[in-house]
Amino acid sequence: MNMTGFECVACGRRQGADFRGYVCPTCGNNLQVTYDYERVRDELDLERPFHQRRRDLFRYLPLLPISDLSLAPSLRIGATPLFRGRRLGGSIGLDDLWLKDEGLNPSASFKDRASAVAVTRAQELGAEIVAGASTGNAGSSMACMAARVGVPCVIFVPADAPPAKIAQLLIFGARVLAVRGTYDQAFDLCHEICERRGWFNRNTGYNPYTREGKKTCSFEFCEQFAWKAPDRVVVPVGDGNIISGIWKGLQELHILGLVERLPKLVCAQSEGSSAISDGIARLRREHPDASSIDWSTVRIDPVRATTVADSIAVDQPRDGLAAVRAVIESGGDAVTVADGQIMRAVREVARLSGVFVEPSCATTWACLKKMVAEGSVGTDERVLCLLTGSGLKDVAGARRVAGEPTEIEPTVESAEAALAATGETP
Ligand SMILES: Cc1ncc(COP(=O)(O)O)c(C=O)c1O
Ligand SMILES: [Zn+2]
Repeated sequence: MNMTGFECVACGRRQGADFRGYVCPTCGNNLQVTYDYERVRDELDLERPFHQRRRDLFRYLPLLPISDLSLAPSLRIGATPLFRGRRLGGSIGLDDLWLKDEGLNPSASFKDRASAVAVTRAQELGAEIVAGASTGNAGSSMACMAARVGVPCVIFVPADAPPAKIAQLLIFGARVLAVRGTYDQAFDLCHEICERRGWFNRNTGYNPYTREGKKTCSFEFCEQFAWKAPDRVVVPVGDGNIISGIWKGLQELHILGLVERLPKLVCAQSEGSSAISDGIARLRREHPDASSIDWSTVRIDPVRATTVADSIAVDQPRDGLAAVRAVIESGGDAVTVADGQIMRAVREVARLSGVFVEPSCATTWACLKKMVAEGSVGTDERVLCLLTGSGLKDVAGARRVAGEPTEIEPTVESAEAALAATGETP
């Protein structure tokens, strides 16, 4: 294993690989995993850097915090398709739009990347029970991975999470604690119980290994683009762990000399859950020169989140600092849109690209449209939208679109009625 330890995202203090805590013992901020990049570079054949036969995310083993691959869930995690969004991009004059469909992961969301790495590491560390709080996807993915490897799993989830996500938790056999409250309350409760029971806590942001799984998406899309990063990557943001993972992965590829130029990251949020975007705007106002920011003093203020995009409804982002850093260091943008725009975007993505996404991911398209309309993205730029979860996770949500019929027309019982009803079909 090339992992050397941990580094605090705020104060920069380091811990060795044998450190068993989750956060920085000095300042309490999140940690990120460090590697011996010299050694990784020596190990890699830069022409064909990663495992050639393995297709899942474990092919990036030299850059993962894992030593025993026999403990890894043998579902196909990652290796998701990247394809051009010709009609979708064309509808707003974008020539080079790309989509990565993370809904094709085993539990139908991006979160499988994080859970796969976390559950493998948890076993290496001797965990007997794994737990986590979730808006729905992180939990259902942890439940799926835990079922695969046979480790008991406890998930804390807001009781009003979409029914399909709760169904997944139950079907995979997790012990489900439906919390009367928000995701943030579920998070804090999970934290307390894990401390008291000594369980492995997968909580997003808090657990440094989730970012390691998430970064593999950037390895994958850079590889799919023949080691040339796109100009921009648009990421739906709640806790900020996906976007900080994407940035970490990109930086690692840069350190290793596998990609030359890094993309700008776009933080896509709902106006109703905009803590990270607000933090970015504030920092940019206070520090027009980003190099003057002292990250150890930066705090991200919470909001009271209300949005249809349940996966990115977060009061206090748990990886906020690393996410804000990712956007600012990449020279990227933070964009917010209203819930109505998000729900219209669900339909546009479906009808113009053939991918049914949940509202959080449609936020990427709604934000990108806003940027193109404002002229802050050039129509010749290569832009990648991460579609992080399947629309089948929240069918009821998808039907709530203002101004569009939400029910199918009355049933047709005869050929005459069907002919009459289809007379105007193009
Ligand atoms: C489908 C989907 N997209 C995006 C996100 C946001 O990720 P993060 O909370 O790491 O910012 C989530 C988080 O649950 C999610 O489930
Ligand atoms: Zn610290």
